[in-house]
Amino acid sequence: MQTKKIFLPESEIPRQWYNVAADMPTPMEPPLHPGTGQPVGPEDLAPIFPMPLIEQEVSQERFIDIPDEVLEQYLIWRPSPLYRAYGLEKFLDTPAKIYFKNEGVSPAGSHKPNTAIAQAYYNKISGTKRIITETGAGQWGSALSYCCALFGLECKVYMVKVSYQQKPYRRMMMETWGGTCVASPSTETEAGRKILEQNPDSPGSLGIAISEAVEMAVQDDEAKYALGSVLNHVMLHQTVNGLECQKQMKIAGDYPDIIIGCAGGGSNFAGLCFPYVRDKVNGKDIDIIAVEPTACPTMTRGPFAYDFGDNNQMTPLLPMHTLGHTFVPEGIHAGGLRYHGMAPLISQLILDNIIRPVAIAQLETFEAGITFAKTEGFISAPETTHAIAEVIRQAIQAKEEAKEKVILFNWSGHGLVDMAAYDAYLSGKLADHELAQEEIQRALDDIAPLPKPKQYTG
Ligand SMILES: Cc1ncc(COP(=O)(O)O)c(C=O)c1O
Repeated sequence: MQTKKIFLPESEIPRQWYNVAADMPTPMEPPLHPGTGQPVGPEDLAPIFPMPLIEQEVSQERFIDIPDEVLEQYLIWRPSPLYRAYGLEKFLDTPAKIYFKNEGVSPAGSHKPNTAIAQAYYNKISGTKRIITETGAGQWGSALSYCCALFGLECKVYMVKVSYQQKPYRRMMMETWGGTCVASPSTETEAGRKILEQNPDSPGSLGIAISEAVEMAVQDDEAKYALGSVLNHVMLHQTVNGLECQKQMKIAGDYPDIIIGCAGGGSNFAGLCFPYVRDKVNGKDIDIIAVEPTACPTMTRGPFAYDFGDNNQMTPLLPMHTLGHTFVPEGIHAGGLRYHGMAPLISQLILDNIIRPVAIAQLETFEAGITFAKTEGFISAPETTHAIAEVIRQAIQAKEEAKEKVILFNWSGHGLVDMAAYDAYLSGKLADHELAQEEIQRALDDIAPLPKPKQYTG
């Protein structure tokens, strides 16, 4: 009988995270202070993050120990299984071998608790009483609510309004774990009120929700802010998945030719691929592909520039691919891929030709999600279907070229509370969205007055 899934014993869970900053071919440029334009120091970040996370954000150590308290909680679902997608391979009649790492087995249903547990833990030991955050599709907000409950912290979540309306069950999950969830833009904050004055029907964006969360966190001495993607420490925590996967692929007796993940802010993709980026930097030939929606083409069409992480210009300026901090994308169902920026580490690796970005439109991704559901059983999050669409493209290409490629992808989450999106697709209500060129110009105008990184591409 063929082996369908490869488990690692709990004793084999990685004890350290991998920090790709130690192996970057080009050194990263620093984040800049939003007011002075000078590199930010730890003291600038102290009002919003606890010190252990700030230290990880700037660390150049290649490996960082995972605390026992975090490992203990990881064991609820980690190590996550690696699957061989025989059903999909057969359906596509491809010589390619397709593997996927199932991150949908966590209590919140995605990869997000990998960092939420670590962030809740470091906040707890630093004396934080409550964590304030934003969420797009609700995956991050629900993951953080769950992890705050584990460590006895309060959790407040500003959820992008279009997702709040599309995904009521995510709000209910947050509330079940004891969190509070508010639709963003809200009237609770200056940032939210400003947006609502300009556009009372604003669908919201991650950039706006971040502004609301940061504004509330800086006003409250007992609170800190948390981000579910983009920042270096978030990418770091996610690497527990890629490090597990390297051990599992060894057991499978294969090494990936192609690695694929969807990318919103970049964290699930980074988690799987960064340990392999280290291999690639050291000479391995791997095609590492990040997939984004054509409706929010940050990596494929946005310039590499310094930009704010939020709409209201409160966060440090990050060197990254960006569509401009005021960008409000179409209300596509992959809410977690509707962010204007991309993780600086991933952005730099794109410039260094280590990572290759592609953009795929919504209808193709849902079709891929349906194919995956029919052949492998699992119903994928709309974000995850972007990775599957590229896997299918690559498997078909392998067939055309008669090559037995090994394709590995991150199955970042299940879509069991995203069924309204599948319903909209199945009843023909979804359309593709191609971002107009004027929008790219608007992004460039947005960032024109800001400082420029050395490798600026605007
Ligand atoms: C299931 C799933 N996949 C992917 C993403 C994209 O985020 P990131 O790029 O940080 O992994 C999200 C974000 O909410 C998500 O919920």
